[in-house]
Amino acid sequence: MTAPTTPRTVVISGGGTGIGLAAARCFARGGDTTVLIGRRREALERAAAELDGSAVPCPADLTEPDDAARAAAFIAERFGTVDVLVNSAGGNGCLEPRRDTADPLASAAHDWTVNFRLNTLTAVLLTEALRDRLASPGGRVLFLSSIAAYRGSGSGAYAASKAALHPYAFDLARALGPRGVTVNVVAPGVVDDTEFFGGAMTAERHDRLVAETLTRRAAEPGDIAETLHWLASHAAGHITSQIIQVNGGAERGR
Ligand SMILES: NC(=O)c1ccc[n+]([C@@H]2O[C@H](COP(=O)([O-])OP(=O)(O)OC[C@H]3O[C@@H](n4cnc5c(N)ncnc54)[C@H](OP(=O)(O)O)[C@@H]3O)[C@@H](O)[C@H]2O)c1
Repeated sequence: MTAPTTPRTVVISGGGTGIGLAAARCFARGGDTTVLIGRRREALERAAAELDGSAVPCPADLTEPDDAARAAAFIAERFGTVDVLVNSAGGNGCLEPRRDTADPLASAAHDWTVNFRLNTLTAVLLTEALRDRLASPGGRVLFLSSIAAYRGSGSGAYAASKAALHPYAFDLARALGPRGVTVNVVAPGVVDDTEFFGGAMTAERHDRLVAETLTRRAAEPGDIAETLHWLASHAAGHITSQIIQVNGGAERGR
């Protein structure tokens, strides 16, 4: 089986920081062109500058249907076809505007809505906006879930918003399989050097999470990026509708 050598167009939401940026570095090293989507133009431009002209910033708030449609129209006009879509935009909500309220129901409604919009809706809207643009055959769609989808996340809101991506990916894989497009989910455990925790990670909590791994370390963004890169490769062409856990054995395979 020989891998195609033509440079690919790789769309990465959340591509300005953390895992998305690490993924962009992997694809850029292979000669691919990346489109980096996020809300902060300056983060995207910084990332694109680092990637030496192989990356195109595309600012958009993917919780908004109009923004997702605008991003898709820009990508369609500039590139026509999308070879790989990596949905990395997301987070646990701690970086989003807070709602200070003494009302526990209003607080729960805010927490669940923020997480659903941030993790589920961003991925669904961008994927739906681009699904007709995916290379057929050969296209790849990838989602970022989390170990939390298996374990819970405290309030449950973040975990549920990630778990929701699993059946969406299964249905998408079934729909796109006949076109030769694969759809997979990567579920990391704790990953260092991202903006995910927004400065809220304590040394004690980090030590506890590392102690749960069999490898005795947290992941680096590159660990997750290399898995995404491999799933997007020609070699992984018969892997679809799967959830791949990358957590150093902190959660056993299932
Ligand atoms: N770090 C971990 O330990 C960990 C563990 C498991 C899963 N994950 C998942 O991995 C993915 C990547 O996170 P990360 O760790 O790399 O954290 P990160 O550095 O905070 O990256 C998240 C990215 O998503 C973008 N984003 C957030 N909301 C967006 C929106 N509405 N529209 C467009 N872009 C948006 C952010 O950019 P803007 O703010 O500029 O929009 C940011 O670049 C997330 O889905 C996260 O849930 C992370």
